[in-house]
Formats: sequence, C-alpha cells, structure tokens
Amino acid sequence: MFSYIVEFVPYREGKVELLVPDPNRSWQSADVPVFLNPRAARVNRDVSVLALSVLKPKDVLDGMAATGIRGVRYFVESGIPEVVFNDVNPTAIQLARRNAEKYNVNARFYQRDFRVLCNEERFWTVDLDPFGSPAPFIWAAARAVRSGGYLLVSATDTRPLSGASPKQALAKYGAILWKPEWYPELMVRVLYFLLFHAAAIHGKGIEPILAFTYEHHVRVVARLREKPSLVTKNVRQIGYYELDGKQYGPIWTGPLQDRELAEKALELWDDDYTKASRKILDLASREPPVLGYYNVHFWAERLKLRQIPRFDAIISALRERGFVAERTLWSDKGIKTDADPMTFEEVLRGARAD
Ligand SMILES: C[S@@+](CC[C@H](N)C(=O)[O-])C[C@H]1O[C@@H](n2cnc3c(N)ncnc32)[C@H](O)[C@@H]1O
Repeated sequence: MFSYIVEFVPYREGKVELLVPDPNRSWQSADVPVFLNPRAARVNRDVSVLALSVLKPKDVLDGMAATGIRGVRYFVESGIPEVVFNDVNPTAIQLARRNAEKYNVNARFYQRDFRVLCNEERFWTVDLDPFGSPAPFIWAAARAVRSGGYLLVSATDTRPLSGASPKQALAKYGAILWKPEWYPELMVRVLYFLLFHAAAIHGKGIEPILAFTYEHHVRVVARLREKPSLVTKNVRQIGYYELDGKQYGPIWTGPLQDRELAEKALELWDDDYTKASRKILDLASREPPVLGYYNVHFWAERLKLRQIPRFDAIISALRERGFVAERTLWSDKGIKTDADPMTFEEVLRGARAD
C-alpha cells in the first residue's frame, strides 16, 4: 500500500488508537515520512476536539492532515458527520486513509496544495495546521469557510507573533510590533488580526471563539459570517497597544474567547484528555475581555519587592477595589485586570507574600 517501506506504530490519543511514525522521533527531525507531534500539538488537538464537540459543524476540512489524527478524532470524538482529509505529502494521505478506514470515518481524501483545494470547494469548518506561519494559506482558508462556519488556525512562528522579531512581524503579519510583558497574548491578537483581514477581503466578519497557546503552539478559532455589519463592527476592534509611549499594531483588541463555549467544552473533558487542555478551557471560560495582563514577577522585580506577593491576595485586593481580576491562561505569572498600572502597583505593595 505504501510507496516505500515505512515503519508505523500504534499510538493512543484521546479516544482513538492510530498508526503513526515513531512518535518519539516524528516531530524532531525533518526526514520522517509523516509528521506527528505527540506533546504540544496534542494539547492543541484536545482543545480543538472538545470545542468542535460543542460547535457541531456539518463537516470539517483537515487541510494539512499528516497522519489524519485530527480528522479521525473530529469524527470519533466530536461527532462531526463528514471529514475531508488533505495533505500534499502522498505518504501522509495514504496513512490518513488507513487511519480513517479503521474508524469507518465518512471521509474524502485529497492530495492537493491546501490553497488550490480551498479555492475550489467550501466547507463548514476549515482546520489549518501548518509548519510555522499560517499567513501564506490564510486568504484561501477564509474563502473556503461557509458563512456561519468555523476557521481553526495554528501557528508555531512565535518570534514574529510575539514581537521578538519585528521585521518578520511586519513582513508576515503587516504589523509593527514590539514585545510587551504580555507577549503570549499578543500572539493570538496578531493571529485574529490576520483572520479578520483575510475574512474581510472576502466580505466576511469574524467572531472569536477560542484562543490559546501551549509551549510554541498558538491557536485561534473563529466563526466567519458573510455580513457587512459584522465586518464594520470588527474594524472598530482593530487597534493599537502602547509601550513606552509608542503605539504598536494593528492587532485585534476585542474579546478573545466565547466564555460559554469554553465552559461547555470543559464539561465534556475527561481523563482521556490532557490536563493542560482542561486548564486552558477553565481559564478561557473565566477570561475577562481586557487587553493584556500584568506579569507579577516582572512587576515584583521592577518594584524591588523582597518576595512575590500571593496571587489570591492580589486578586481579592483588586476585586475589593471594584476591578475585575483573574489569573490568565497566557501565563502562570500573569493577572488580568482592568486596573490601571498605578493601582496595580499599590495593590502589589500592599499584598501579602506569605
Ligand atoms: C504540522 S503538520 C500537520 C499535523 C497534523 N495536522 C496533526 O495534527 O498531527 C503540517 C502538514 O502540512 C502538510 N503541508 C505542507 N504544505 C502544504 C500545502 N501547501 N498543502 C497541503 N498540505 C501541506 C505537510 O505535508 C504536513 O503533513
């Protein structure tokens, strides 16, 4: 069946067991026949599977399928009735077919360039999971999503997205960026800006549903609607952030999460999923719609505090003053609040450290 001899081994993830190249090697070197990342990308897949289990679209394009693990999980675990598998790599699509057949997935298979397929067909859901940046594929992806359908996008090029590499950020994302203390969140705000722009070019607006990062994986999920009033509303949510008196952007400044969706997805979580995916959904379900957050360690150092104050003490002090305050999914060291920097500083100085 395979064009050359490749060794595949059984691999369990979520509620499926599939054949994959040795998962200990398959993401560390470029010379493996089919790619699979069993660590960071697994968390990405778990959260995506739980989100689609709630959203229940009629079909999904697993546009860069590799082993097909995403699409098979969407069928088996999320209950999506039809999955379209695509990958340019012939060995990948042969393997995806074999894995899909094991679970009788109602499937179609293509071995095309993602952009070509997305220019020819439309889908209720498009999952775009490239190596590195999704920017070269985003226009085609946004075109292919039906009005009212979903676009799920991964990125692993954290240097441009976080503002660590401003030249690449401008080249790939059309934004002038500088790395803020809340840079993990900046990465999804840049990605949502990219989605907004790609969708708007096709006359569609975006409704952000879920955004998260895990290790070097960045992921956003949005609903797209062909609705001029939504595009106009989106335009008002594109803006800039300030750092040392200068403005950077453009980025998406609106809400990042549909908190109700995250809460419902969390209810479906069980032991077959990673603990990290539970933590992401839990924090997403509570995330206040505020731009950026304070990194407590960074502030403690800046204020020369002898000890790091307790997070629960900081959060309750902020709430007592009438502000929203929560831990954030972007960093274990972060607190998201609408309090201004002076208030935050006062609260930090007054909060207990033991
Ligand atoms: C990061 S891997 C996908 C991993 C997979 N989605 C998963 O969850 O395990 C990226 C895949 O995209 C495929 N690919 C790269 N460029 C492509 C293109 N232009 N069109 C379609 N597939 C492409 C590669 O062959 C590779 O299998």
